[in-house]
Amino acid sequence: MATETLQKTMSGEEMVALSKKHTLFEWSAQSKVDPIPVARAKGIYFWTPEGKRFIDFNSQLMCVNIGHGDERVLRAIREQADVLAYANPFMATEPRARLGAKLATLTPGDIDVFFFTNGGAEANENAIKLARLATGRHKILARYRSYHGATAGSMMLTGDPRRWASEPGMPGVVHVLDPYHGISRGWDSAEQSLAMIEEVIQLEGSHTIAAFILESVTGTNGVLVPPDGYMQGVRELCDRYGILMVCDEVMAGFGRTGEWFAINHWNVVPDLITMAKGLTAAYVQLGAVGMRRSIADQFKDKVFYGGLTYNSHPLACAAALAAIQVYEEDHLIENARKMGALMADLMTDLALRHPSVGAARSIGLFGLIELVRDRDKITPLAPFNGTSDEMVALGKFFRQEGLYTFVRWNTFFTNPPLCITEAELREAFAIIDRGLEITDRAVR
Ligand SMILES: Cc1ncc(COP(=O)(O)O)c(C=O)c1O
Repeated sequence: MATETLQKTMSGEEMVALSKKHTLFEWSAQSKVDPIPVARAKGIYFWTPEGKRFIDFNSQLMCVNIGHGDERVLRAIREQADVLAYANPFMATEPRARLGAKLATLTPGDIDVFFFTNGGAEANENAIKLARLATGRHKILARYRSYHGATAGSMMLTGDPRRWASEPGMPGVVHVLDPYHGISRGWDSAEQSLAMIEEVIQLEGSHTIAAFILESVTGTNGVLVPPDGYMQGVRELCDRYGILMVCDEVMAGFGRTGEWFAINHWNVVPDLITMAKGLTAAYVQLGAVGMRRSIADQFKDKVFYGGLTYNSHPLACAAALAAIQVYEEDHLIENARKMGALMADLMTDLALRHPSVGAARSIGLFGLIELVRDRDKITPLAPFNGTSDEMVALGKFFRQEGLYTFVRWNTFFTNPPLCITEAELREAFAIIDRGLEITDRAVR
């Protein structure tokens, strides 16, 4: 009772102070964190205990794809909790059975079998374990501009600077360059990029490489949509050299790009696909690695050496089934496409009117703006892995105006829940429009 009263009556200031005192915030020096206290959320909005409203323009961590507080998912969680809150992973349960079967209908091609985890990093850990066991090879190719999670192995797959502090870690990961080289240098063609990857495969010894893991559309490293032909080319290279193609759809999956999975834009079927976030829209934590039938069949007689206490957690599987039903009932994939087209127009309009906008990219409701201080020399408004006074000021402005999104390096994200309406999208872009006046003042 005392705890209940405490939870309901805590002020934002108390929440922040106590959280900072007794809990560690991720990816931060603790003296620098300044969390927003959150009391409740509905649709595309969330509120502080004092009632300040924010537009959630990042779907929290690019995960609350269906929007907040959907009663259909909450009810499914409650009903599952009433009947069976937990069964260990050696048991079969109805939500586990139904979710596996449902995912087999949604995922590309002959991906048919799923191993459930607690989140994205563990999905990637298990994907590389499966690939190594299935091929008998040990090296994994990954890309530099990537994030694959913060567990020991996934951290080494990650190519961006978040990896550095954990090195040296799991051996055997080889990073390759991306088709994108940052706003100043721009893009390679698909052919150039594929030739570089093939050269690395030959130099490393193709017979030593189990898998190539890549985000179908790169997330935190810049909403990088690969040039046409790239994904098809990666598929061909993997086939030619007996390497398994692993698509990380943890962020790009579940409608974010206007398709159930981003890889569908290129009609490519990976051998393994990893997912989390949008799978349950983050109502309960759940990840999964999906595999083609041919890979699953390898474990008919061979042991799959992997497990987790919360594998196939009934509450999480029930939440995922209900969330998937919401995507379907509310036509959220179609809405992501429709609102995505409007968002692309709004972004183009900003780029035309604001000199600090160096690039504006989006696919579906997955978007990012790169800011520059010089349009001729294309100098980013903050350095690689760094920030600047102007980017900090922009972040402060968004917060003050009640727009929540990720501001990272010289970029900020536009990733609203997929249930967003035209009026809500325009409301958010009106705030961004005003915010860019700050960064425009930095342009030489
Ligand atoms: C592409 C990608 N892969 C993996 C992960 C890790 O997922 P989790 O934080 O659920 O472990 C993330 C998280 O942001 C991600 O964006």
